[in-house]
Amino acid sequence: MSFPTRRLRRLRTSAKMRELVQETNLSPRDFICPVFVQEDLKTRIKVESMSEIERLPLEDINDEVETISDLGIPAIMLFGIPSNKDEAGSSAFDDNGIVQKAIAQIRKNFGDKIVIMADVCLCQFTSTGHCGIIQGNKIDNDTSLETLAKTAVSQAKAGVDTVSPSAMMDGQVAAIRKALDDEGFTDVSIMSHSAKHRSSFYSPFRDAAECAPKFGDRKTYQVPFTNAREAMMEVETDINEGVDIVMIKPALSYLDLIAETRKRFNVPVAAYSVSGEYALVKGAATQGWVNEKDITEEILYSIKRAGADMIVTYFAKSAARFLQES
Ligand code: PBG
Repeated sequence: MSFPTRRLRRLRTSAKMRELVQETNLSPRDFICPVFVQEDLKTRIKVESMSEIERLPLEDINDEVETISDLGIPAIMLFGIPSNKDEAGSSAFDDNGIVQKAIAQIRKNFGDKIVIMADVCLCQFTSTGHCGIIQGNKIDNDTSLETLAKTAVSQAKAGVDTVSPSAMMDGQVAAIRKALDDEGFTDVSIMSHSAKHRSSFYSPFRDAAECAPKFGDRKTYQVPFTNAREAMMEVETDINEGVDIVMIKPALSYLDLIAETRKRFNVPVAAYSVSGEYALVKGAATQGWVNEKDITEEILYSIKRAGADMIVTYFAKSAARFLQES
């Protein structure tokens, strides 16, 4: 009888041995925690499709950020739900807008204790629910760039660390970089949703942030989920335009693109584990069909293993808690 020459199980004999050879690590430091803030809200509202996720009134933001920071999570990603929407998306770049107010308040209370990132997009702020400005019957790329740039500058004035454009307009990184630099905000960084795919995994978010398109879909501006080379061109274009951190979005069905981006480029790579990924796990866990902690751990480690340096995830707080315990 011939013995196998290599027995990989020799390195799996005990917990300590497995720890010794573990290749991928996960820590609360890897997370960016999304925070939804809604204008004129009196008390928190639960997001129906995303169990344990809430929209917060401005008054509750400090407590929320404190909880996040105490868990060892270094960054938040702010999403605003304004009271007023119009065709121009003007509440997005209002210096007194809900996102701007939240940024200023967090900066005042926390100083440099947390990295403040904010979504730069128009779909929550336009009456059409589209990520750009409509001219005639289409989303006009270049008009939208001006609005996105103004939005980024108003967030910078409020004290944001990192603006995170997610509108998928061509040239958005260059337009925002130029506008920030022209206004003296040379140290405000840009984490672009570089390869943001047209995905059905976003539907619970539309419930969370009231930003479903009123007509049509986002196929004319988001990346088709069939095209990997096109996704790499999006990443490359953002790098050429001066982006600081690139992002692949969603995460779990796009691990190949995370790995490819990590291999090809030297910029930090973020992955956005989106609302639908969260809702699928929560839905099955609530039924008792999967173990929530185990499956969350496996998903987040897999995203790290693929090559992500950081993960935007709705599991940030719960995962930070179980990582602290283990
Ligand atoms: C806004 C935006 C969306 C998400 C983040 N920013 C929705 C969309 O493009 O339809 C989705 C995030 C998630 O599903 O968690 N442009």
